[in-house]
Amino acid sequence: MLNLQLFLFILSHLSYCALAATADQWRGRSIYQVVTDRYALPPNAPNSTCDPGQQTWCGGTWNSITANLDYIQNAGFTAVWISPVSQNWEGPRTPYGDAYTGYWVQDISQLNEHFGTSDDLKALSSALHSRGMYLMVDVVINNVMALSTKPDYSNYFLKDASQYHPYCPVDWGNRTSEMNCWLGDTKVTLPDVNTTNPTVVSAYQQWIQQFVQEYSVDGLRIDAAKHVNADFWPGFCQAAGIFCMGEVFGNDIGECAEYQGVMDSVLNYPIYDALVQAFQIPGPGNMTGLVEVMKQSQQSYRDVTVLGNFLENQDNPRWTNISVDPQSMYNAITYNFMSDGIPIVYYGQEQRLNGNNDPWNRGPLWPTGYVNSSTYQLITTLNTFRNFLVNTTDWATSNTSVLTIGPNELAIMKGSVISVLTNVGSPPQNSSIAVYTPYPQSAALLDIFTCVQYAVGSNGAVEVSYASGGQAVVLIPSVYLAGSGLCGYTKNANIKVNNKGSKGSLESSAPATAGIPSLIAMALVSLVFATSSILVS
Ligand SMILES: *[C@@H]1O[C@H](CO)[C@@H](O)[C@H](O)[C@H]1NC(C)=O
Ligand SMILES: *[C@@H]1O[C@H](CO)[C@@H](O)[C@H](O)[C@H]1NC(C)=O
Ligand SMILES: *[C@@H]1O[C@H](CO)[C@@H](O)[C@H](O)[C@H]1NC(C)=O
Ligand SMILES: *[C@@H]1O[C@H](CO)[C@@H](O)[C@H](O)[C@H]1NC(C)=O
Ligand SMILES: *[C@@H]1O[C@H](CO)[C@@H](O)[C@H](O)[C@H]1NC(C)=O
Ligand SMILES: *[C@@H]1O[C@H](CO)[C@@H](O)[C@H](O)[C@H]1NC(C)=O
Ligand SMILES: *[C@@H]1O[C@H](CO)[C@@H](O)[C@H](O)[C@H]1NC(C)=O
Ligand SMILES: *[C@@H]1O[C@H](CO)[C@@H](O)[C@H](O)[C@H]1NC(C)=O
Ligand SMILES: *[C@@H]1O[C@H](CO)[C@@H](O)[C@H](O)[C@H]1NC(C)=O
Repeated sequence: MLNLQLFLFILSHLSYCALAATADQWRGRSIYQVVTDRYALPPNAPNSTCDPGQQTWCGGTWNSITANLDYIQNAGFTAVWISPVSQNWEGPRTPYGDAYTGYWVQDISQLNEHFGTSDDLKALSSALHSRGMYLMVDVVINNVMALSTKPDYSNYFLKDASQYHPYCPVDWGNRTSEMNCWLGDTKVTLPDVNTTNPTVVSAYQQWIQQFVQEYSVDGLRIDAAKHVNADFWPGFCQAAGIFCMGEVFGNDIGECAEYQGVMDSVLNYPIYDALVQAFQIPGPGNMTGLVEVMKQSQQSYRDVTVLGNFLENQDNPRWTNISVDPQSMYNAITYNFMSDGIPIVYYGQEQRLNGNNDPWNRGPLWPTGYVNSSTYQLITTLNTFRNFLVNTTDWATSNTSVLTIGPNELAIMKGSVISVLTNVGSPPQNSSIAVYTPYPQSAALLDIFTCVQYAVGSNGAVEVSYASGGQAVVLIPSVYLAGSGLCGYTKNANIKVNNKGSKGSLESSAPATAGIPSLIAMALVSLVFATSSILVS
């Protein structure tokens, strides 16, 4: 009986892997998002000041990212998303400063010299791969950048004016206009590429195929994806041959789901909005709204487990700017790590950088000294735990469900993990929440943050108190923590991530036998699970 279960367990993993391998590989990853110009200074560079208000280059390069990967990997991240690498418009300062973020693309087929050479980018890619990490590159397809509504395109990748839509300002809410008209304004225009033109389609496909191969890229973050006709993306992502995650700005789940229909994943803007509404302090504290968005997402998307979950990015305010109490971020970030989707942390979030919108949300990281801050430690714990669950169980593909909802509390469960979240903030409260769990009486659950043990009561309930403030609590039966490296359990170094039937660029560098020990490890772990669930139930 047990042997049959084991056999089915292994079989289900093997057959699962054969489908949609690249999204499957990314599902268990955890992404650190970097604006190349702002992450780190090159070695030996003077400790220069960088005023984000100046909107100019501060000196970060691909080499300086490569030299500072320990900081990212030590926090448990398994992938890095870097800002666009393509050549940008070069010229006099615009009313909005210089092209330091990389989104003002002119020739997508050339690299941006401000950030390094072709060899430097290759070195970053191989440094990540040798650490077992993935490289995600941000690409801007929808538009280029110019300073007029009738630009001279002779220095652009697409040189013919007929390859662009004629100028019109976007009429928001009109989808045709959102796709064909120009983002930006008339001071800095973003000429809209005609992505239905067959010459454009094939030029982009040839470029991306060659680019992904040359730099061994593992995933793409696609800027302004919803401003491009949806039927452009399947051919483009197929030519790329790797995981595609599109930016579909706004809280319209239907629109996001439509774009996940044409690429692997989208950034989870609807959940981001709901998290702000639920956890921001002061704020509406709308926990029922978060649950509604979560349930509607599960019904609408093709696959919620590969969406990109975030709290900050280069277009939205830093969380700490809109909600100063650190517990508000800690609870919201725990939702992103412990529910469905791929967690994304924007550089500097771990140091609680506090700028508002563009350009204040793009401050330099170096003034923080890259210290092991309490936020950095919390994120490290979440990554360590999630990597462990992902490496050893099918947690990543399991569904999140709601256990208990209170006026200021929400308890969710994904796989065997229960996360109890609150928006009451740091001050001690004379309150607690009873969370109804499926675990039997006297089962011992551990909180991964404090390692405090919670005993399940007679009705399956666990009582979480806020007497020392509104901290997030993440509970798992203590027997399941063996091998995790958390709460005194030693880390089982032999359990490695399983690159299930990779079709991504890591495949070639992975030893041919890598899958076999990990299958044995999974089988052993499932034995432990089978045994412990018998003990618990
Ligand atoms: C939507 O925008 C398109 C493109 O600008 C325009 O042709 C069309 O008339 C607009 N539709 C409506 C209903 O305004
Ligand atoms: C885009 O290009 C196609 C093919 O060249 C053309 O038929 C179409 O009219 C163009 N679209 C717009 C809105 O200019
Ligand atoms: C809470 O969020 C839901 C879903 O977005 C919304 O329908 C509801 O009006 C919100 N309630 C409050 C009090 O803001
Ligand atoms: C929010 O950001 C703005 C601009 O960066 C800054 O002036 C303000 O002090 C920040 N507020 C908080 C609460 O951090
Ligand atoms: C750079 O300067 C900032 C103060 O502006 C300081 O906090 C930081 O530690 C310095 N970093 C290094 C590497 O010297
Ligand atoms: C950060 O500090 C914590 C607590 O002391 C420690 O366990 C962890 O190893 C440190 N992380 C790094 C990268 O030094
Ligand atoms: C899980 O996989 C990651 C990435 O390969 C690795 O760094 C980590 O050590 C693994 N964790 C465990 C608990 O095996
Ligand atoms: C998760 O939910 C989806 C949609 O509700 C369902 O199709 C899928 O089978 C569920 N997966 C698991 C592992 O329960
Ligand atoms: C806490 O709340 C309970 C019931 O709401 C009340 O009886 C008790 O006095 C309160 N304790 C404190 C210290 O405020």
